[in-house]
Amino acid sequence: MASEQLLQRRPGCLVPILLLLASVMMCPLVWSSPPTTVRRPPELTFLAGAAEKGAVCLDGSPPAYQLEAGFGSGSHNWLVYLEGGGWCSTVEACSKHTKSALGSSNFMEAVQYAGIFSNDQSQNSDFYNWNKVFVRYCDGASFSGDAEYEDQDGNRLFFRGLRIWEAIIDELMEKGLANAKQALLAGCSSGGLATLLHCDDFSARFPRKVAVKCFSDAGFFLDKKDIDGESFFRSVYNGVVHLQNVSKVLPKDCLAKMEPLDCFFPSELIKSINTPTFILNSGYDSWQIQNVLVPDESSPEKSWLTCKANIRDCDSTQIEVLHGFRKTMVGDLKVVQDKEEWGLFIDSCFTHCQTPFKISWDSQISPRLGNKTIAQAVGDWHFSRGQRVKEIDCEYPCNPTCNSQLPS
Ligand SMILES: *[C@@H]1O[C@H](CO)[C@@H](O)[C@H](O)[C@H]1NC(C)=O
Ligand SMILES: *[C@@H]1O[C@H](CO)[C@@H](O)[C@H](O)[C@H]1NC(C)=O
Repeated sequence: MASEQLLQRRPGCLVPILLLLASVMMCPLVWSSPPTTVRRPPELTFLAGAAEKGAVCLDGSPPAYQLEAGFGSGSHNWLVYLEGGGWCSTVEACSKHTKSALGSSNFMEAVQYAGIFSNDQSQNSDFYNWNKVFVRYCDGASFSGDAEYEDQDGNRLFFRGLRIWEAIIDELMEKGLANAKQALLAGCSSGGLATLLHCDDFSARFPRKVAVKCFSDAGFFLDKKDIDGESFFRSVYNGVVHLQNVSKVLPKDCLAKMEPLDCFFPSELIKSINTPTFILNSGYDSWQIQNVLVPDESSPEKSWLTCKANIRDCDSTQIEVLHGFRKTMVGDLKVVQDKEEWGLFIDSCFTHCQTPFKISWDSQISPRLGNKTIAQAVGDWHFSRGQRVKEIDCEYPCNPTCNSQLPS
C-alpha cells in the first residue's frame, strides 16, 4: 500500500520525473520553457521475442526503448539510459501500474530528447553525436525483479525487470553496442538506482579495452526516517525487494553480511561497484524530500506541505531538517572519495533528475559547482580532462546558480 499511495495521492506528479513529453502531460506546471527546436522524438522500438523470453512489462506487454543513431566521431559511442518512474511495492500498486506507461507498453508514447539526449553540439558538447538509447521503464522494480504473481481470478502480474534488462542489452549488442568504443550506462531516479544495480554487469559485457562507465542521476536514495521518525521509505523498498524478488542483482559481498533490503540502498551498493561511476544528486533532492522525508503518510502539517512543495517556503526549523538530510547523503558518499576514477556532483538545488533537461544539464542558468555545469563536469570526468571532478556544494541557499526554477 505504501507505494500505491506514493503513486496515487497526487496523480502524476509524485512519479519521479520522466522525460519532456511525459512530464508535460503529468506535471504541466513543472516544465515551463518549451524545447527550442521541435523535432520528432526517436520512435519506440518494441523488444523482439519478448513473450518467448518472458521479458515483459507488468501487464505482459513487450518492453520498449527509443534509439537515436550516433554519427561522425560518436558513431561508436553509446549512451544507454534507463528511464525512472518510482516503484510498485504491492500487488495493488503494481496492478494500477498496468493501466499506465509505467507498467504497460500499450500506453507508451515516444518522448522528446533533450539535455544529455540532445543532438545539438551547443547544448551537449560531449555526447551530442553518440548513439543514444532511452530504455523505457515498465517493471516497477528498477529493472531488477524476477517473479510472477497470479490471483484467484487468474489475473497475472509479471515482475520481469531483470529479464527486460538482459533482453534489451542483448538486442542492443546486436544493433552495434557490441562494437562500442565507449559505453556509458546512465539513468535518473529509479533508473539511477537501476544504473547502480546493473553497472558492473553492464561493464562485464565488454572487452577490457572498451571505456565503460556508469552515471547515476538522482538515484542516491537514502535510508532515512521520515519527519515522524517512521521508516516509511524503508517499508516501500522492503515491499519492492520481496514482492518482486530482486536479490539476484544485489552484490554478493553485500548479501554475505546484510539483508537484501539493505543491499538495495545506494549507500551499500556503491561499496561493491568496481566500474568508474559518477554520482549526480541534489543534497536537497525534491522527490526525496517529498516522498522519503515528508511523505503524505507522515501526515505533515500545513507548513510542511508548503515547504516540501517549494524549498523557498520552508522556515528555519524545516531547513535544519533538510540540512540533516543533506548531511546524511554527504556522509554516505564518503566512500567515493577513495575511489580514484569516480566522480561526484552533489549540488544544493531543489530538484530531481538533472540530465534530461536543458535547463539543468547545460545552459546559461544551469546549476554550477566549481564554475562547471553538470554537462561540463560529467564530460571532464568521462574523458579524464583536468582535475578529477568531486564536487559537493555548500548548504542551501548558498549557491546562487540554484536560483532558476528547476524541475521539481
Ligand atoms: C527469485 O529469483 C531467483 C533468481 O533470479 C530465481 O531463481 C527464483 O526462481 C525466483 N523466485 C521466484 C519465487 O520466482
Ligand atoms: C566561469 O565559466 C564561464 C563560462 O564557462 C566563464 O565565462 C567564466 O570566466 C568562468 N568564471 C571563472 C571565475 O572561472
